[in-house]
Amino acid sequence: TTTSGTLPGTAAHEAASSPDRTPTARHYLMCRPTYFDVVYEINPWMDLGVPVDGARAVRQWERLKAAYEAHGHRVEVIDPVPGLPDMVYAANGGVVAGGRSLAARFTYPERQPEGAAYEAWFAAAGALGFASLGQATEQNEGEGDLLLAGDVMLAGTGFRTSRAAHAEVADLLGVEVLTLELVDPRYYHLDTALAVLDTGTTPATIAYLPEAFSPASQAVLAERYPDAILATPEDAAVLGLNVVSDGRHVFLTDRATGLHDQLRRRGFDPVGVDLSELLKGGGSVKCCTLELRPAATTTTQEAH
Ligand code: ARG
Repeated sequence: TTTSGTLPGTAAHEAASSPDRTPTARHYLMCRPTYFDVVYEINPWMDLGVPVDGARAVRQWERLKAAYEAHGHRVEVIDPVPGLPDMVYAANGGVVAGGRSLAARFTYPERQPEGAAYEAWFAAAGALGFASLGQATEQNEGEGDLLLAGDVMLAGTGFRTSRAAHAEVADLLGVEVLTLELVDPRYYHLDTALAVLDTGTTPATIAYLPEAFSPASQAVLAERYPDAILATPEDAAVLGLNVVSDGRHVFLTDRATGLHDQLRRRGFDPVGVDLSELLKGGGSVKCCTLELRPAATTTTQEAH
């Protein structure tokens, strides 16, 4: 049997673990899945034998974008490039933190040209409040493996982003980096196994699937995030942890019903979306969304 992150507990416990979840307006980058398809297999979710409905993928993606906008968030779009079917997974394009952007350097040759496409977009986006540092030198798949949780960058490794890339990110972006080792090929990117939900608490409120991490990394997570939501294997297996949160609203697949309940019990509002076509490429909500963070001087604005 699996354990739930929320203790059965008393009303007092529930109240103590559910602080006021205040949403803040976010700024995202997305890439329309115009050329999305599964034409190679670089993760266990991809199956050349399962056809993709491209028009449906676009409709699902448009509904996700509309959901962000309906909650007061701004969405930028990068032009999709023909021949780069995975470019829809914008989270992998790089990472933006501390007013600086670092474009990705992809593991597999099939995706490597995306690094330059995202680098060019960042370089041209100076007016949005961050400076481009170009492309990473080390193997780095952006926010797929690099999730900012307040003032610490949670950094996945094991399948894609390298440990050397973690050091490069710490150095170039000036953040503390906490290395976490992934061990299950289905959860090849950190954002498939761990979700950052609320950075307004100390420590940040996160959710994760313990079994996706090495024993040593499980111990680190348990120590640093004793109040984390522990996801079930069932919810993780529909990429339920691949979420985007504004601190209150958590955008995630409608299939992860157990996680929706866990989130509600902790004071979050889950917003369910259907991304069944994008799941065929091994991605969900977070994979389709890169967060653009301006330098820290901006005022915090409430979302709606
Ligand atoms: N097919 C893509 C790959 O394997 C999916 C990437 C999903 N993105 C993510 N942030 N987990 O690289």
